[in-house]
Amino acid sequence: MRALFLALGIGLCSPALAQQAADTVAPEGAGAGALQVPGLLAGAQAAKDAGRPVEAENWMIAAAHPLAVEAGAKVLRAGGTAADAMVAVQAVLGLVEPQSSGLGGGAFLVWHDGASGEITTLDGRETAPMEATPTLFQDETGQPLEFFDAVVGGRSVGTPGTPALLRAAHDRWGQAAWPGLFADAIRLAEEGFAVSPRLASLVQGDADRLARFPATRAYFLPGGEPLAVGDRLRNTAYAETLRVLANDGPRAFYTGEIAADIVATVQGAPGNPGVLTETDLAIYRVKERPALCVPYRSYEVCGMGPPSSGASTVGQILGLLSPFDLAGLGPDEPEAWRLIGDASRLAFADRGRYLADNEFVPVPLKGLLAPDYLKSRSDLLRGDDALPQVAPGRPEFDHALNWADDQSIELPSTSHVSIVDGYGNALSMTTTIENGFGSRLMVRGVLLNNELTDFSFASHDEGRPIANRVEPGKRPRSSMAPTILRRDGAPVLVLGSPGGSMIIGYVAKTIIAWADWGMDVQEAVALPHLVNRFGPYDLERPEHAAALRGMGYAVSLTKLTSGLHAIEVGRTLKGGADPRREGLAYGE
Ligand code: GLY
Repeated sequence: MRALFLALGIGLCSPALAQQAADTVAPEGAGAGALQVPGLLAGAQAAKDAGRPVEAENWMIAAAHPLAVEAGAKVLRAGGTAADAMVAVQAVLGLVEPQSSGLGGGAFLVWHDGASGEITTLDGRETAPMEATPTLFQDETGQPLEFFDAVVGGRSVGTPGTPALLRAAHDRWGQAAWPGLFADAIRLAEEGFAVSPRLASLVQGDADRLARFPATRAYFLPGGEPLAVGDRLRNTAYAETLRVLANDGPRAFYTGEIAADIVATVQGAPGNPGVLTETDLAIYRVKERPALCVPYRSYEVCGMGPPSSGASTVGQILGLLSPFDLAGLGPDEPEAWRLIGDASRLAFADRGRYLADNEFVPVPLKGLLAPDYLKSRSDLLRGDDALPQVAPGRPEFDHALNWADDQSIELPSTSHVSIVDGYGNALSMTTTIENGFGSRLMVRGVLLNNELTDFSFASHDEGRPIANRVEPGKRPRSSMAPTILRRDGAPVLVLGSPGGSMIIGYVAKTIIAWADWGMDVQEAVALPHLVNRFGPYDLERPEHAAALRGMGYAVSLTKLTSGLHAIEVGRTLKGGADPRREGLAYGE
């Protein structure tokens, strides 16, 4: 049962809620309909509005919604680790930013351990059901489905990984008692929170799809009308799901009544049923994998290897740029963006052909990042104009490879959390339900992902298989790039972003802005985006277009809504939050 209160402070508010309302402020210059920010974070909001990083001595958190930051801050202040705080943050994000991430989705986490100095990753990516086949997203004639025909409904739903990942991180690195980490999210879900401008505008824009399923419609379109900014929204079903997770652990999500409800919803989705079963949920496992680290300037850039293409593609871009003096060129020089743009095109060409879940297909990871290979590709950048043609290279590999190029459609989505705790641990986690609102199916207050549409819809091209085709149990290729830069074994920058396949460009740009151009974290995340994948040069600002056109690029002016959250670790901690989204950085 959900309830909606159309104004703050009306009789239906509990005393705790009234107190919470009294303790919130709107950002400076914001009118009615602005984001509600807890009083604790007023300074963080002011710093973001002024374009300054937030500075702190002991710990810091940067995440996509003030209420999630507040929940994480409480855990850190009480002596919790970054892993503890992450659990609290994710539980709140699933409530206040449900369109982006939650228990129904998956995540990748990079961890630098303050005590041992080791860096590792956790793969909580969704898996394809055991009954899925390479033709999952094709019609009866073998033609790929239209994107949203595939997304909306049960067909796109993979086995969620996030509940298991929360527990795996907590088991390894947590100190706080597990049940208490859900307290803030449960309270907010029961008492209600103010719908943010971003959530309201996304509901408005997606109303037709959200209206297709009764539970989703009732929550996001109460009385048939889309939620509006400032509406107080409760999700008591989510509170109950969190309570089960808090008391009984993730096993209670992957088996029993919750699992049965998820399966019934996916298999029963009208018009577009899926093939997920209770067995898929019961056998789901988080995988710990070695971090993929590449050198750049004086740093080691560490991130998530396959099934994500994040670290390898960011690593290739940086590796291709290493021979060039980007610092000398600076961010205002079109030549710098020619180099970055074509390095990115070359890296994306390789990504499209070779990157996939390497437990299912052989991926020439070492060859793609080998210094000789990168040098040969980097030499292609030595002209003056955009490369007339870009094609995948031939990295060294001990397998014969004959893949066709990938045909995935990857739209912006997702959320990113960066945390540094008081013990010297650093955590970078990108978390997602894929498209905004995922599959649009809602079970027990949780939106289910559409992660399977990150697979290539086409399985073959001219008789050659596509590496990222659907296979049972396989994890769809991701672009998520949670990243930690280290120098001499110590973390110096923790970052990541949402944004579908744009994530790779956002993260690479932020690293270059910080490492080559000497920007602070807030400047680096705010710097206008220019992203080149394997098509036109996507630009946020029109002033960049003429010079790039002159070099031979097709350009596309578009909204590039990243959600970068970055923490610089130096003498103090400095946090940056993307001005394009609602998140904040906060530390003490
Ligand atoms: N679904 C977003 C990504 O994994 O890249």
